[in-house]
Amino acid sequence: MKTEIWDVRAYTTQLADYPRLSEIIETYRRGGLVALPTETVYGLGANALDESAVQKIYQAKGRPSDNPLIVHIYDSEQLKDFVTEIPEATEKLMEAFWPGPITFILPLKPGFLCNSVTGGLNSVAVRMPSHPVARELLKLVDLPIAAPSANLSGRPSPTTFEHVYHDLNGRIDGVIHSTQSEAGLESTVLDCRTFPYRVARPGTITRNMLNDILPNAVDEVRSEDMEKPIAPGMKYKHYAPETPIAIFENLEHSINALRYKEWSHIVFIVPKSFIPLLPEEAYTIILSDTEEDIQQANYNLYDALHKVDQLVDVEQAYIYGYPHHEEAEALRNRMCKAANYQYVEGEL
Ligand code: TXA
Ligand code: MG
Repeated sequence: MKTEIWDVRAYTTQLADYPRLSEIIETYRRGGLVALPTETVYGLGANALDESAVQKIYQAKGRPSDNPLIVHIYDSEQLKDFVTEIPEATEKLMEAFWPGPITFILPLKPGFLCNSVTGGLNSVAVRMPSHPVARELLKLVDLPIAAPSANLSGRPSPTTFEHVYHDLNGRIDGVIHSTQSEAGLESTVLDCRTFPYRVARPGTITRNMLNDILPNAVDEVRSEDMEKPIAPGMKYKHYAPETPIAIFENLEHSINALRYKEWSHIVFIVPKSFIPLLPEEAYTIILSDTEEDIQQANYNLYDALHKVDQLVDVEQAYIYGYPHHEEAEALRNRMCKAANYQYVEGEL
């Protein structure tokens, strides 16, 4: 299949003027797959009412069919078609954070969305993205759009057009070429079916931010500490580059522990401030200026994980784990999954 590229970079805030806009809209309407930018990561979108379109998402990604998709909307009014009720507390959080990087899991009203969007569950995950291109598209298409991250299943999520194109060229109808995703990590997923709510996947909207709006809305279980996955997707391998990767938490300790390694085959993914302390022969990829800059590290993480596999000499990656602050919970969650919970310190 030929994958179209729609370069909308000159039309970010006025998509309606993009000369090829109707091609994109038509592709969604006839059940095609179009990757679109969002403020979290790029998504692989299809009409959430069209069973065969949604099936194609699972095929293009190689995604297990029991891992349900997030439905993207532009207006809360759309919810009444496929959600049984919106609790008052959830509505308050929606007002505070939508449009934005948070997904709410709510009870499904059956009969509207096609079955494979929700993977046969009686709940649905829904999000209203804030990216101006995504918002305008959702409005013009006027359909709920099912969209997982636009990567091959198991691979790092895409934050740039190039990441999407690398994984999905030839497998989907088209990709929208827009800017790098601002948040850099997938949305916070909040299970709103029982109170207090549970974070099923941490994101850049943190537990504290939610509890600031609504005290005690979210329980204290840290997703890092959870043994049992509460979102179906959590049980699958995620975000992993092909190169083996391990986390380290103490630089000096780790360099000592690793002193017999051939540094020229190693890459360190670190804050810039660590570079003078690293072996000169090793490769480095910078995540942020200092270890305090969590937002910058979020923004750069997936690009760093994509770059690792492009360094042909590199046999092993070590990534700095960042401090255990609540602001860094989502960053650490994605790193733990990318590294399959391997710690340098744990190898000693
Ligand atoms: O930021 C994002 O959320 C991006 C952009 C494109 O919106 N999308 C994204 O989708 O990350 P995906 O499919 O890669 O991750 C969706 C997560 C999965 O862990 C899935 O298991 C969970 O949401 N999920 C979806 N529906 C669910 C449901 N009904 N109950 C529990 N978990 C659900
Ligand atoms: Mg994903």
